Amino acid sequence: MSLKFVYAAAVALALTGAALAQDASSGVYSPAQVARGAELYAAQCARCHGPSMEGLDVAPPLTGATFLSHWTGQPLSALSARLRTTMPIDKPGSLGQAASADLIAAMLDANGYPAGKTDLPPGAAGQAALILDAR
Ligand code: HEC
Repeated sequence: MSLKFVYAAAVALALTGAALAQDASSGVYSPAQVARGAELYAAQCARCHGPSMEGLDVAPPLTGATFLSHWTGQPLSALSARLRTTMPIDKPGSLGQAASADLIAAMLDANGYPAGKTDLPPGAAGQAALILDAR
């Protein structure tokens, strides 16, 4: 294999990687999904995290600088895994992939990330390349 070929292959790989990764500001959820997520949030999360995700007592806010500092640079699949394994804190493991995707859509909306035309796909495969960029 010539050096030239190795270089070309490396550049092609880098470009593919860049094209696959997408940031959360590029419209990765739909308004309909926010409506579903808000309903779930009101039923299962608001009593601890507050009606507007502002935080209450020991439950931290799910909007704003501190929250974003925990997740900026990470794929949305990491946030989904966190929700599905630890929340609601008194009933961990009860959220499915679709419910956690809808909840993430509501959280992105509340944090000022723009909506797009299609739903955030449930499941790690579709979320792993979607990175939470800084607001
Ligand atoms: C019974 C109270 C309670 C309920 C209900 C609850 N949470 Fe939490 N949540 C907490 C507490 C307390 C923490 C902080 C401790 C921890 O991180 O585990 C937390 C932490 C979090 C975090 C991490 C925040 C950060 O800054 O990284 C997220 C995200 C989250 N909750 C989302 C949710 C969602 C979504 C729901 C609804 C499905 C929910 N929680 C329901 C109490 C609750």
